This record gives sequence, structure tokens and C-alpha cells, in this order.
Amino acid sequence: MIELKGLILNAENWVKQLFGEDTSGHDFYHTDRVRKAARTIAEKEGADAELCELAALLHDAGDDKFHPSEEAGKQFVKRWLQKQEVTNETIEKLIDIIETVSFKGGNNRPPASLEARVVQDADRLDAIGAIGIARCFMFAGYKGEAMYHPELKPRDIITKEAYRQERSSAINHFYEKLLKLSGLMTTETGKQMARERHQFLETFLHEFFAEWEGQR
Ligand code: ADP
Ligand code: NI
Repeated sequence: MIELKGLILNAENWVKQLFGEDTSGHDFYHTDRVRKAARTIAEKEGADAELCELAALLHDAGDDKFHPSEEAGKQFVKRWLQKQEVTNETIEKLIDIIETVSFKGGNNRPPASLEARVVQDADRLDAIGAIGIARCFMFAGYKGEAMYHPELKPRDIITKEAYRQERSSAINHFYEKLLKLSGLMTTETGKQMARERHQFLETFLHEFFAEWEGQR
């Protein structure tokens, strides 16, 4: 059986290849930041840091954005893990973490294990703060959406389909998702790390609207 350390290296190389050319906000460095944050949180929360790091590395590889369905994405990661001579128990644990991480408009089930909560918090942290803002505008550009459109109002309740398909704007995305994330952290460490990043979102919006109105 392969040690988790060796598996982490293999996973790193695999996802580097998978996300090498991505410009939609899911390049390898997104995965790498989530992995670093997951380690930080895991160590403070007393979670299994290697398992968290590994799940963080794999968390977007099976995302349904990149596959025909959620099931197809899950099987894609599972097949890779099965080639790695890792125990079925570890595979099940990793798949459970990865399945519960993605936000999907907020309609997903709550994460079962401490490790799943750690990785989910780490992924959400990367959507707020300075990096979160940068990713949001990158994504909007990639989707051909406006930076801000005063006539497009933020939506309150969003189904997964609407979240993915309807027209929106980068600024609306702050109200539909980004500003909610700090309140959705489930580990104490995640909550703490989210605080300043959340404040930065508020400061940014304040400045953005003042400039929009020509007040500065
Ligand atoms: P996830 O659903 O796993 O959070 P997404 O693909 O939805 O991942 O998001 C990738 C990045 O792009 C995140 O930083 C997210 O906040 C941002 N993003 C997602 N949807 C939009 C959108 N409609 N407009 C602007 N940014 C978005
Ligand atoms: Ni992610």
C-alpha cells in the first residue's frame, strides 16, 4: 500500500496536468491555495492533515463543471484513486470529503466528517478576500458577464441550475454568494480566517459604489 505522502505527490502531479491551462478560476494554484489553507486549518482543529491535504488536492478534479454529471466526476476521481494502490477505506473517506466540498448554490448537504468541514472551509476561503475578489472578476470575464449591471438585481433563492446558467454580474455574485461564505464556515479556525477576508469584501464594495457614483 502506498503511503499518504507518496499519494499526495502523485495527486499534485495529476491535478497540475488537469488544471494546467485553466483560466476560469480553477487553475492549479487555486487547488494549491486550498491545500495550504486546509493544512493550516487541519493542524489547528486536530484533523487528519494529510487526508485533508490530499482531499484538497483532488477536490475540483471531479467537479461536475468539468464532467457530464456529478456521478461521472466522482467516478473519474475514484478510478484514479483505485490505480494508486490505496485502501478502499481511504478512497471512501476521500470521496466523501470531495463530494461535500462544492458549494453548488448552497444546496449541498452538510459535510459529515471534521476533515470534510476543514476542506470545505479552505475552499470557501479562496472565494473571499483579495483572492476571492480577483477570482470573481476572472470568472465573470470568462463567462462573458458584466462587472456590474445596475439593472440586474441579485437573486435571493437560487437553484443549482439558475446559479450556473442565468445571467448575473461579478458584483451580484458578492451578494449571492461571497458575502454569505464567512457565515457558513463550520470550523473555528475557518471562521477566524474568514473574518478579515469578509471585511475586505465589504471595504471593496463600499469603495466600488462610491467610485461608480463619481463620489471619489
Ligand atoms: P464552486 O461552485 O466550487 O465554488 P465556482 O466554479 O462556482 O466554484 O466558482 C469558481 C470561482 O468563481 C469562485 O471564486 C466563485 O466565487 C467565482 N464565481 C462563481 N460563479 C460566479 C459568477 N456567476 N460570477 C462571478 N464569479 C463567480
Ligand atoms: Ni475549489
